[in-house]
Parts: sequence; C-alpha cells; structure tokens
Amino acid sequence: MNANTLTAARPISTLQGSDFLSDVIAGLSSDPRTLPCKYFYDARGAALFQKICELPEYYITRTEIDILDRHRREIAAHLGTNIELIGLGTGAGTKTRILIEALEKPAVYIPVDISEKQLRQSTALFREIFPDLEILPVCTDYLQPFVVPSPRRKAARNIVYFPGSTIGNFAPEDAVEFLRRIANLCGREGGLLIGVDLRKDRHILEAAYNESAGVTAKFNLNLLARANRELGANFDLQQWHHHAIYNSREGRIEMYLISETRQRVHIEDRQFDFRAGEKILTEYSYKHTPEGFAALARNAGFEFQKMWSDKACLFGVFYFTL
Ligand code: AVI
Repeated sequence: MNANTLTAARPISTLQGSDFLSDVIAGLSSDPRTLPCKYFYDARGAALFQKICELPEYYITRTEIDILDRHRREIAAHLGTNIELIGLGTGAGTKTRILIEALEKPAVYIPVDISEKQLRQSTALFREIFPDLEILPVCTDYLQPFVVPSPRRKAARNIVYFPGSTIGNFAPEDAVEFLRRIANLCGREGGLLIGVDLRKDRHILEAAYNESAGVTAKFNLNLLARANRELGANFDLQQWHHHAIYNSREGRIEMYLISETRQRVHIEDRQFDFRAGEKILTEYSYKHTPEGFAALARNAGFEFQKMWSDKACLFGVFYFTL
C-alpha cells in the first residue's frame, strides 16, 4: 500500500476540504459571492450531470468518447503493456472500458470514485467483461488523501487516467498543484492520460453551458436546493436564474446564479441580503490551448508526449510521462 497526499487548497476551487455549511457561509460572505462547484454532485446533481452529457449542445462527452474510440490502438500502444491503470472519477466507466479493451495485458485497474453506487455498478460490469483483470475499486474523494491498494501482480508502470475535462474546473494554479499530486501517484516511469476541453468559438461554449433544454440551469440551481435540503436554508428557487458566460481574457466559462429581486436568505443563524441582479459565482470551466495545457502540465513535472483530437479540435486527450 502506498499513501499519497491529495489535500486542500483555495476558495471556489475543487481542491478544498468538505464541510458544506462552512463552505456555503464562507462563499456567500466573500466578495464576489461564490459557492464551490464540488457541491453540485449530490445524487440529484450527479443525475442531472449525466443528462447534461447527453445534450446536443454539450459536445464534451461525446467528442471525448469519439476520440478514444478512433485512436484507441495508438493510445494503448503509448501506455504500454502490464500497466497499473488508476482511474480518477471514472464514473460509469464508458471511456475506461474503451481504453481497457484496447490495452495489452493490463495488470490491474483501480477505479477511484466518490459515488459508491456507480463504483459498485461499474466494478461489477467490468469484472464480467474483463474476468482476467484484477480490479481494486477505491470509494473516496480523490481530492483527499487516499491509499492505493497493492495489486497481486507487479505492474511495469502506473498510468493515471483523468477523463471528462474535470481538470478544467480547477483554476490554473490549483490544476498545477493537483497534477503534482497525480505525479506522485504515477511514480517513476509513470504516465498521465487526461481529457481536456480546448479553446474554441465562444458561441459553441456559451451554447453548451446555457443549453436549450435547461438541464444546466437545474444543475446549477440544485446547489441552492441542496442548501435548503441539507442546511435548512430558505432560498426561493423561483427568485434565482442560471447564466453562463465565456470570459475570453481568462479562457473560462463562468457559471452564475443571479438574484431576480432584492431578497434575504437565512442559513442557520446567519442572514444574507442580495440585491436584484446580484450574482453568485458557482463554477469555472477553463478551456485550454494545446500549448497552454502542455506548459501547465510541465510545471507539475510532466513531459508532453502526444495529443489526440477531433477534426474540429474541440477536445484533446493528452498523454504525458514523467
Ligand atoms: C465536470 N465538468 C467537466 C463539467 C464542465 O463542463 O465543466 C461540469 C459542468 N458544468 C456545467 N455543465 C457541465
């Protein structure tokens, strides 16, 4: 067993510890007001996110799957034989399945996910599809320290797989810090396969995050509903709306909840006054250039090997080594 340290960092980032009440109070007391995006993913939020991934405007999921599908052999050749594959936040495992099918004699697969239900389901499915592969699921928040189980067979190298462009939800300095922690997980001779959303026309981006079915709005508003459910807050959901904009200077989507009116909200013994039009920032989703992301990973100690992309260069699957 080897322990590694994935610990906490700064406001609104994905890297902080988990105390919903204190994070909500700190976020709503700050200027500008924020709520951390990691709280999107309760059971309802996770189900809404699944729906988002299937929406026509949300190109990210299907583009990443297409890239993996088209380049699976070449990707597998880069990762090599007899590897220990550590999947971070791999969810239902659609992408990992494509990858494992293409790998030559992988030694072990270690999926790490916070959702116990999804982890149980995907592990059961993978054990059925890959009966000869050792699978060691770890149910935990991969942002926190966790212990990697030891496989029966010694692998040639560790490869961390981090799909879904979740790295885009980290501010660049947090992304570097997180990638450094991943580098510790990879160890000597290790590698990182990571999905990254690329910069593109703002209309495509804004359509993806303000899609016409309104699922992203529900996903965003669920943060307030969750505060009502779990903290006894009294947000009136009719008095808030969702909006996402692309900040081209920073290269990121910014998601907001906007107050429709002047209102007061109570959470435990605290009260928060909002002006009409006042915003709560709930998520950053950074879009990287290929060169920019390679440079960011280099700051964490990774050496760029290859990027696979789609025809329109919407998305990149990057492979780095140490
Ligand atoms: C999980 N993450 C990569 C998604 C994204 O695109 O930044 C979360 C999301 N937010 C709104 N839609 C999807």
